[in-house]
Amino acid sequence: MCRRTKRADREDGFMIEYVPMKREHLEGLVGVEEQCFNSGFARATFQKEFENKIATYFVAVEDEKVLGYAGLWNICGAADIIDVAVHKDFRRRGIAQNLISCLIEFCNKEKIFEINLEVRVSNIAAISLYEKMGFVQNGLRKNYYENHEDAYLMQRKFEEENNEDTCH
Ligand SMILES: CC(C)(COP(=O)(O)OP(=O)(O)OC[C@H]1O[C@@H](n2cnc3c(N)ncnc32)[C@H](O)[C@@H]1OP(=O)(O)O)[C@@H](O)C(=O)NCCC(=O)NCCS
Repeated sequence: MCRRTKRADREDGFMIEYVPMKREHLEGLVGVEEQCFNSGFARATFQKEFENKIATYFVAVEDEKVLGYAGLWNICGAADIIDVAVHKDFRRRGIAQNLISCLIEFCNKEKIFEINLEVRVSNIAAISLYEKMGFVQNGLRKNYYENHEDAYLMQRKFEEENNEDTCH
């Protein structure tokens, strides 16, 4: 487990737990993905990610219900955030922030020297989240998305001690 938090509005002792992604989360992950992105291939994507050696995902779970997830790929010591998504009914409770903290802890453990991501220029919620988590904008990709929307590139660098290329 990466971390555990209590919901202010629940008195019954249930905690939100942040755990590495497992196959038992599949249905919940697909549900959150469909609600947030509706890509049409959520199931196939997660099936592939279970087998993907460079992928690491954390899942927010409460009472066996998947509330959100965040994942990255570790490419030779530099990470790319693939997705962050939180169920609509559970937003603005710090879940995405906790998921990204889990990814950052993982990066420190693995000596990853930077995390990169792309985000739609219109996605104010995600841009604010990433800025809060220490990411800075460092570029723009024109027409990056299928609807021709531009993407901001954002990055968070780590300390010198993580500065090690792991591709040999
Ligand atoms: C973006 C998203 C993951 C945020 O999840 P969340 O759990 O609600 O975020 P948190 O509660 O951890 O919010 C952390 C911070 O992010 C920012 N933020 C989150 N939602 C925001 C919103 N709607 N508007 C402005 N800022 C927002 C705030 O700075 C917030 O801190 P605050 O609540 O103290 O002001 C969620 O809105 C989502 O799933 N969106 C659809 C999928 C998506 O766009 N993913 C990102 C792809 S790059």
